[in-house]
Amino acid sequence: MTIYYFDHAASSWPKPPEVIKAMADCVELYGANPGRGGHRMAVQASKILFAARANLAKLFNIKNANDISFALNTTAALNQAISGFVQPNDHVISTSIEHNSVRRPLEYLKRTKQVEVTFLQTNEKGELDLDDIVQAIRPNTSLLICSHGSNLLGSIMPIADIAEICRKHGVKVLVDAAQTAGTYPIDVQAMGIDMLAFPGHKGLLGPQGTGGLYLAPDLVLEPHLHGGTGSQSESIEQPTVRPDRYEAGTPNTPGIAGLNEGVKLIMQTGVANIHHKEWQLSQQLLEGLQQIPGVKCFGPELGEPRSGIVSFLIEGVEASEAAFILDQSFQIAVRAGYHCTPLGHETAGTTDSGAVRSSVGFYTSKEDVDYFLSAIREISKHYVSK
Ligand SMILES: Cc1ncc(COP(=O)(O)O)c(C=O)c1O
Repeated sequence: MTIYYFDHAASSWPKPPEVIKAMADCVELYGANPGRGGHRMAVQASKILFAARANLAKLFNIKNANDISFALNTTAALNQAISGFVQPNDHVISTSIEHNSVRRPLEYLKRTKQVEVTFLQTNEKGELDLDDIVQAIRPNTSLLICSHGSNLLGSIMPIADIAEICRKHGVKVLVDAAQTAGTYPIDVQAMGIDMLAFPGHKGLLGPQGTGGLYLAPDLVLEPHLHGGTGSQSESIEQPTVRPDRYEAGTPNTPGIAGLNEGVKLIMQTGVANIHHKEWQLSQQLLEGLQQIPGVKCFGPELGEPRSGIVSFLIEGVEASEAAFILDQSFQIAVRAGYHCTPLGHETAGTTDSGAVRSSVGFYTSKEDVDYFLSAIREISKHYVSK
């Protein structure tokens, strides 16, 4: 049965054959513990981590690959960055499109460390007035956290402009690249990013259980996890050396072996090419949906910057019901309901309804989008009153 997969914003699928093979090879041929032994299998496992780190560094224009630490997912990377950087009584600025993986750690710090937080309101398309950042900065503002791409609206934040403002005021910038890593060009040096949290399992085409955090060289964070690193074992303290400081415990070596292949494929294809293709597909989706009676789309207008996400509602059909029909009658996978972003839903005006989120990916074709639109047309014919 053909599945039409439009849920890439949650996790990309299918994974490239190279990714699957690299994972299987790792488990079958050299699945030893990296950094914890001198034998040939342990060395080979260490080498694959080294290669993946080096390729990620190339992709994001990071000078020193050891400034990247691997994490289970974006959430783990964000938690390391937020809890490790923010000090009691600090002020943090964020936005009204953030995912719960930013919002909840910040709410926790508000309750437990008297941290002050300002969520800057964007307009309903996800656009931020950059003057609001300057207005919000206080003497104790230490950090601004911003999603590069909204997971509901598909909007893109002008990270370089935001970071420039922050740099002038001595405020560090943490970027949540969950929706853009691998699908939108990211250059941490040119964009002035101090910390970058990214998933391995979405646009980078790796498996679930992978992700990472880039930390600028001048930052020293409190580690989120303490434990064995295979280095400085005689010390009772977490090592200061990177990436060990932020990588306690056995890593997901098979997953990272797969991620490495995903990153290589992304670089061979070119992020700008991937973005261009996904942008065209999102425009085809948006334009098609806007022509269907009873369909309301959210986020940027046609022709404006956007990731591969298009969220919408069909009049008279609950978001979850639409997703159920798409799955059962059309073999189309989407995500529906609330997308871990109550702030984003308030911003889009969909707090009561949720939304259907379609998202394209590396293997999505024009024909897939045609099929998707024909399914929505069918649903509209049956449900939308004339
Ligand atoms: C904007 C954003 N941030 C963070 C996350 C959390 O990502 P992960 O599932 O990799 O922890 C997501 C997941 O969809 C997201 O869309």
